[in-house]
Amino acid sequence: MKILFFGTKSYDKKFFEETWQNGRYHEIKIEYIDVLLGPETAVLAGGYDAVCAFVNMNLGTSVIETLHKCGVKLILMRCAGYNNVDLEAAERYGITVMRVPGYSPEAVAEHAMALALTAIRHTHKAYVRVRENDFSLNGLMGITLNGKTAGIIGTGKIGSAMAKICHGFGMNVIAYDKYNNSELNFVKYMSLEEVLGQSDLISLHCPLTEETFHLINSKTIAMMKSNVTLINTSRGSLIKTEDLINGIRDGRFFAVGLDVYEEETGSVYENLSDSILQHSTVARLLSFPNVCVTSHQGFFAREALEAISRTTLDNALCFMTGKESGNEVRTI
Ligand code: NAI
Repeated sequence: MKILFFGTKSYDKKFFEETWQNGRYHEIKIEYIDVLLGPETAVLAGGYDAVCAFVNMNLGTSVIETLHKCGVKLILMRCAGYNNVDLEAAERYGITVMRVPGYSPEAVAEHAMALALTAIRHTHKAYVRVRENDFSLNGLMGITLNGKTAGIIGTGKIGSAMAKICHGFGMNVIAYDKYNNSELNFVKYMSLEEVLGQSDLISLHCPLTEETFHLINSKTIAMMKSNVTLINTSRGSLIKTEDLINGIRDGRFFAVGLDVYEEETGSVYENLSDSILQHSTVARLLSFPNVCVTSHQGFFAREALEAISRTTLDNALCFMTGKESGNEVRTI
């Protein structure tokens, strides 16, 4: 099987090569290219059986059509989310889509808590201040989490890990999900409105779907306690950015931590420090002292990259031998 690996970063190649060299995967050949998969580049997949793609790429209808014309039979998403893939088109053309669910839920949940702690204790500001020999504390007053209420939206693999971390911090944990997770016996499930209205820390861990698109908007922000802290490590479009910005301006939030944001496609994972940015979302968010933004790095831990490369290559092996891996993604 020949796989064309799009959007290669040095760390991707390092971890995939190390995994490949363990010998089980000798029937798989991987070519690494750094361009992202999209309408202009899909044609590069000519002659390959499979492509390997990531969250920051466009696998819409036209890309799937081109991949089909190129003879591609398999799309290996080296990530958990697949909201950027037109699954209906893939099914129509008989292309199998596989992903890596739950490669390290703790990596993302721990990053969510790191963002929360950074935002509420202003460590991102303190770090810069001390480097400039400014040892003053004005403006750095934080809040504690112990005894406060954490509201988890979506208690799947990552949300469960975050719920456990919050529990360990001595927080009361409440949650909203379409399906209750019975393993989380310390979590009280409530309606979305109740979770929003009672939480001091809200952390988003549901997938981006038609139903969750702009889940956080002016109406739901109005339901939140004043001085709430909001964390999003899931997908940018769960939050309507304009409404969030208005809410921050109105002083509704103690702090906001974002690993994902709308308009991140195109800039995420790229060094644009010498470029003139074509959109202003990040700049506007960063203008607020109580907002901390990272660049979709929740997954970016050694353990996660090891698991991603192993599962992706196992997915390819399963496909080659006609076995179900359980990691196939379908429309229903
Ligand atoms: P999961 O599938 O294990 O859990 C998702 C949970 O959300 C499920 O319990 C599901 O019932 C619930 N859910 C679905 N629709 C809902 C709705 N309308 N309202 C409330 N809950 C709903 O997924 P997992 O592995 O926990 O990942 C969650 C999300 O995290 C992914 O969809 C992805 O967007 C994001 N993610 C972010 C990463 C990062 O680097 N920042 C890395 C990996 C995933």
